[in-house]
Amino acid sequence: MRILSGIQPSGMLHLGNYFGAMKQHIEAQEQHECFIFIANYHALTTIQDAPRLRQYTLDVALDYLAMGLDPNKACFFRQSDVPEVTELAWILSTVTGKGLMERAVSYKDKIARGLPASMGLFSYPILQAADILIYRSNAVPVGKDQAQHIEMTADIAGYFNNTYKCDVFVIPVAKHNEAAVVPGLDGEKMSKSYGNTIDLFEDPKSAKKKIMSIKTDSTPVADPKDPTKCNVFALLRLFTDAAERAEWEKRYRAGGMGYGEAKKRLAELFEAKFGPARERRGQLVKDTAYVEDVLAANGRKARAVAQGVMEDVRAACGIVVAKGQP
Ligand code: ADP
Ligand code: TRP
Repeated sequence: MRILSGIQPSGMLHLGNYFGAMKQHIEAQEQHECFIFIANYHALTTIQDAPRLRQYTLDVALDYLAMGLDPNKACFFRQSDVPEVTELAWILSTVTGKGLMERAVSYKDKIARGLPASMGLFSYPILQAADILIYRSNAVPVGKDQAQHIEMTADIAGYFNNTYKCDVFVIPVAKHNEAAVVPGLDGEKMSKSYGNTIDLFEDPKSAKKKIMSIKTDSTPVADPKDPTKCNVFALLRLFTDAAERAEWEKRYRAGGMGYGEAKKRLAELFEAKFGPARERRGQLVKDTAYVEDVLAANGRKARAVAQGVMEDVRAACGIVVAKGQP
């Protein structure tokens, strides 16, 4: 099975990104053929500042490598090292109705948050479909908020196959994990646009301070508490094994436990998980030439696959290019 997923380089990665997406990307390398890429063309829809985009692109690469993505197991590359993907996005846009894009929830959300309604933002799901289809990916591990984009991709693959009476594209499915939505410090969805994040590589002191400030209700220490309604427990359950999780649940329900205790344990678990990765990242940042080599070599591998599929695409729709080009 071929797994593919992308992550936008649009700032510091946080716990929502990790449990919603990144964790699955890294785990998948052990079992499947994996393509994981940095979606820098997509990021242009929100970041229009060259030094910042370059920095964020490098940051995501460092973050993934530090967290254990192994470039010998997974093909880890930059979207822009496979420029054919933009050609495919154009071709797909010619078989996709405008109405499908108008139904995109994430577009509506972004407009509601004040982003300018550029054509890039509007057709974002078509470029995402191209990302997925150009590698004939079977499954796409993403957070729940991306489900609609993957359904659209399946629709778009069908439009192309039907229009040209062919089987060029594989129809992909989304793969979600159990952490549907990770709450932020205020209990809303953790998101960098809400300023309620705990970042993966933030300084341990500041992470601890943030964890201690997670919003809880004012149930007195002595009273029983409902773990399913607690923001601290929602995070704690992501870090603990089944036995420890059950133990905390019991303690919540029994009463006599303050939220501060659960927060302290969460801070400990956070440090145990991300402390070593922070050190690895500190080493990697001193050798950006290595990171560049990894991305370039993997980009060449990904491009070879994409070029093969594009030959089938062009043949199916009658686009002729001179032999040996590009
Ligand atoms: P942000 O909301 O901080 O801008 P993105 O939209 O860039 O994050 O999300 C990148 C990936 O991380 C997506 O696949 C998304 O599903 C996942 N993700 C982001 N925030 C969360 C969250 N709070 N809970 C679960 N998954 C999340
Ligand atoms: N839209 C995804 C996000 O915001 C990023 C992305 C771009 C992606 N292309 C993709 C995810 C292809 C999966 C497959 O998180």
